[in-house]
Amino acid sequence: MGLLWNFLAMIWYQLTFKPKPLSDDIWLWGQTAIVTGSNAGLGFEAAKELALHGLSRLILGVRDAARGEAARAEIARLAPECKIEVWSLDQESWESIVAFGERVDRQLDRVDIALLNAGLKRLEFSQSPTGHEAHVQVNHLGTALLSLLLVGRLRRTARETRKPGRMSITASSVAFWARLSDVQEPQGGNGILAWLDNPASFVPGENHYCVSKLLNVLWTRALAIHLYPRDIVLNTFNPGYCRSQFHREDPRGESMAKYLAFDTAQGGYHLTDAVIRHPNSHGAYLSEQTIRPVPQEISSAKGMDSQQFLWDETLALFERECPEVDIEEFRRG
Ligand SMILES: NC(=O)c1ccc[n+]([C@@H]2O[C@H](COP(=O)([O-])OP(=O)(O)OC[C@H]3O[C@@H](n4cnc5c(N)ncnc54)[C@H](OP(=O)(O)O)[C@@H]3O)[C@@H](O)[C@H]2O)c1
Repeated sequence: MGLLWNFLAMIWYQLTFKPKPLSDDIWLWGQTAIVTGSNAGLGFEAAKELALHGLSRLILGVRDAARGEAARAEIARLAPECKIEVWSLDQESWESIVAFGERVDRQLDRVDIALLNAGLKRLEFSQSPTGHEAHVQVNHLGTALLSLLLVGRLRRTARETRKPGRMSITASSVAFWARLSDVQEPQGGNGILAWLDNPASFVPGENHYCVSKLLNVLWTRALAIHLYPRDIVLNTFNPGYCRSQFHREDPRGESMAKYLAFDTAQGGYHLTDAVIRHPNSHGAYLSEQTIRPVPQEISSAKGMDSQQFLWDETLALFERECPEVDIEEFRRG
């Protein structure tokens, strides 16, 4: 997908684009937001920015309670009027994701904003306790399942408040460094996900991470088809190359970050921009805080086939592995 072009475009905007925070006139009083992967990095910065814009209730979805509590205390110090709670969420565990979704339904009378941001990058093959490759599990399956689980509460809130709910999924421009062929044909006849789970498909380095971010983009586009934008505006976005703990296992990434990366707060500005602004971004991809076209290959007939295939395969996997989750409405289309 024009790897060199994408790489040069990335260098260009990293050097020339200045990410902007939300404008001062944005006031979120009365609203409730969920931010995953918010104990650190971009998610933490975004959660803090939302709280500083008058948000009433903030749920930090994190897998490490102590780090979550430290994040809560820091945000509470800056925005004491916001009710902040730390909720356990481990995207490597079906039980944890389902419990999180049930708790949202049980304990939150409204959800206006959901930022699905948790993610990881590994350069070597590793497997989650669910048996799936770690990027497939955390970045795609965990995010996808949570997105389905949050639809009901976001939609009910939207209908009560007569204002669309907002859900954004953190992707990356490296989504388009992946080859569409990596997610195109059912490899070996068992499907895309089974192939990506297979250690034989893993090329050491960041290819699987890039593929998982492409899955985020395809999933967002597929789920958007099943949602009315007057209920939920769903988009996905590139936060740019940012300083955080994210590149800790990638020395090349870490050293490049010194010269090119946005600081962590600037990375966070992309999350809040995507989930608060751009009311017409349903199903869209944003980069540099602007709606951008996806590469032509993604919207081609082949790309649409991959998108549909991924949707069907992911739902079938949830039916097998999380039978307690009711996904019937998404099956109906
Ligand atoms: N930094 C960049 O240059 C960059 C560029 C493009 C896209 N992104 C995307 O931005 C998002 C945030 O990254 P970041 O830069 O803020 O990195 P980070 O500081 O490493 O934050 C990642 C967050 O995801 C959480 N997480 C990881 N595995 C999880 C799991 N199994 N269950 C629940 N939460 C989990 C982490 O929790 P722990 O602290 O417990 O590990 C952490 O809170 C990711 O989706 C990443 O793909 C980052």
